[in-house]
Amino acid sequence: MKFFVDTADIADIKDLASTGLLDGVTTNPSLIAKSGRDFLEVVAEICAAVAGPVSAEVTALDAETMLKEGRKLAKIAKNIAVKVPLTWDGLKACKVLTGEGTMVNVTLCFSANQALLAAKVGATFISPFIGRLDDINLDGMELIHEIRTIYDNYEFSTEILAASIRTANHVKEAAMVGADVATVPPAVLRGLASHPLTDKGLEQFLADWKKTGQKIL
Ligand code: E4P
Repeated sequence: MKFFVDTADIADIKDLASTGLLDGVTTNPSLIAKSGRDFLEVVAEICAAVAGPVSAEVTALDAETMLKEGRKLAKIAKNIAVKVPLTWDGLKACKVLTGEGTMVNVTLCFSANQALLAAKVGATFISPFIGRLDDINLDGMELIHEIRTIYDNYEFSTEILAASIRTANHVKEAAMVGADVATVPPAVLRGLASHPLTDKGLEQFLADWKKTGQKIL
């Protein structure tokens, strides 16, 4: 499973990239607003900080303007994935942009049929939003499972990018049902390595090691 981080915070991105575990980044207009930075500038910085795909979202609602925005974003760097919403105009723009060789992430997916349409227009990534479905008492993980089945039935190459991840359990379950990628908030990503028994075990080992009076270096 690939790990993307879901943030526009450049310090977090650089820190997580230094672990060698980061395969890409996703941003959205809310995350850009939270960063307080200029959109084009911060996206260019992120693209330089990571080798993998960096999602940057269009804000137009019509396909023609989405295409103009998408082409401008794609010029920032080779690793840009233009993010378009799952609307008819977004699907139209996706078809054209992928035909031009640009990676496209179709976002705000909440149903298997939407995901089927995205795959048919050649989306590079489909982003089903798990947390937002769970928020309204629906089953976000079931959606990932449905999309996995449909994509496998027809051998679609569109990657399932599990989004709106809120917990470590979301990451584990998305991996179990076969999501290709999880985009994860920095704090949740860091939390994946934590376990109280790891901390407790390490404390005990170090206490016992001290008793031996030995050193490795
Ligand atoms: C994905 O690309 C989105 O940016 C993100 O995962 C949305 O998450 P949220 O529902 O926590 O805002």
